[in-house]
Amino acid sequence: MASDTETAAMRRALDLATATLGAASPNPVVGCVILSADSEVAGEGAHTYAAVDHAEVAALKAAGDRARGGTAVVTLSPCAGTGRTGPCTEALRAAGITRVVYAVADPTQPPRLDGFDVEGGVLESEATNVNEAWLLAVREHRPFVTWKYAASLDGRTSAADGTSRWITGAAARADVHRLRAEVDAVAVGISTVLADDPHLTVRRDGVLAARQPLRVVVDSNFRVPPTARVLDGSAPTLVATTVEPPPGTKAEYAVLRRAADGHTDVRALLAHLYERGVRHLLVEGGAKLAGSLVDARLVDRVVGYVAAVAIGSGTPLLDNAGAPSIDAAWRLRLDDVTRLGDDVRLTWRA
Ligand SMILES: NC(=O)c1ccc[n+]([C@@H]2O[C@H](COP(=O)([O-])OP(=O)(O)OC[C@H]3O[C@@H](n4cnc5c(N)ncnc54)[C@H](OP(=O)(O)O)[C@@H]3O)[C@@H](O)[C@H]2O)c1
Repeated sequence: MASDTETAAMRRALDLATATLGAASPNPVVGCVILSADSEVAGEGAHTYAAVDHAEVAALKAAGDRARGGTAVVTLSPCAGTGRTGPCTEALRAAGITRVVYAVADPTQPPRLDGFDVEGGVLESEATNVNEAWLLAVREHRPFVTWKYAASLDGRTSAADGTSRWITGAAARADVHRLRAEVDAVAVGISTVLADDPHLTVRRDGVLAARQPLRVVVDSNFRVPPTARVLDGSAPTLVATTVEPPPGTKAEYAVLRRAADGHTDVRALLAHLYERGVRHLLVEGGAKLAGSLVDARLVDRVVGYVAAVAIGSGTPLLDNAGAPSIDAAWRLRLDDVTRLGDDVRLTWRA
């Protein structure tokens, strides 16, 4: 059984992992705390893809000689294979670690921890939640899909004239930037680009963040204008299309298959993004693109910002996903309700 000190260290390791959401892909987020032989915190570490070192190695470097005879508390079982880095199990052994406490077993390489005193499954459900996008992605070979919308209290995402700025208040809009920062890619349908000309970048207090998710425009017939803000070069952008681009286009693109309805096939889109290393995709609309994903039951989480405003006409939340009867409606589980100023953020899971 894990001691109280080890469980507290696992909570800290989970915080370290959570803080790197969005920065570890295509790898999982992992946090690690090294406890010395006398159960003091000797070192901490987390993995970011850019920094290369796995969480265990970063924590061992911080701990130095104090790791000898100590315990590694880590949110995911340590790797035993060589990828961009050597096996973490060997690094732990070489540093003199004698006990390993982990939360979740890595499904891509089951734990190989011979010679260590091992305790698995500590705070397992919390650690599963932190890595839910990555765990689903490696299991299903497609990104975890979060569909986000901002709507009036009567379920409209824009007015009859197409205007939608701004339905929600400043707190909800700032929260969307936090959400974007945690994902690997942000997708919209071409009609949203043509109507709103969104930038789809992560900004904090108006300043572009250093790490930006991939912007994806789903545009079967390559109608995106070269002057669109998503093509301004301030972050990477992919046009997912089904046709060859107009001559001279500078945009990065992928030619994918068409679905029976003539639009870009959403399964082909997700498969392509997974191959590119996208493990968590945020779909920001509009109603038709979201509808196709809902209709194919390819949405894993819905984050809805519902504003204290009534419009009464205009674009509905979902299109293309009509259930013929209530029995066929898509039912979800309400996971969280958070007030953001006069708006409410609702989170549902499939
Ligand atoms: N408040 C919000 O949260 C929010 C967010 C986004 C948008 N909006 C509003 O929503 C409106 C646009 O929404 P919309 O529903 O008209 O358009 P949309 O979903 O943004 O784009 C629809 C277009 O995307 C293309 N597409 C490519 N593959 C598709 C697929 N598999 N399924 C569906 N569409 C696919 C289709 O054109 P091709 O076949 O030519 O590619 C389709 O016509 C705007 O007025 C915007 O202001 C509001």
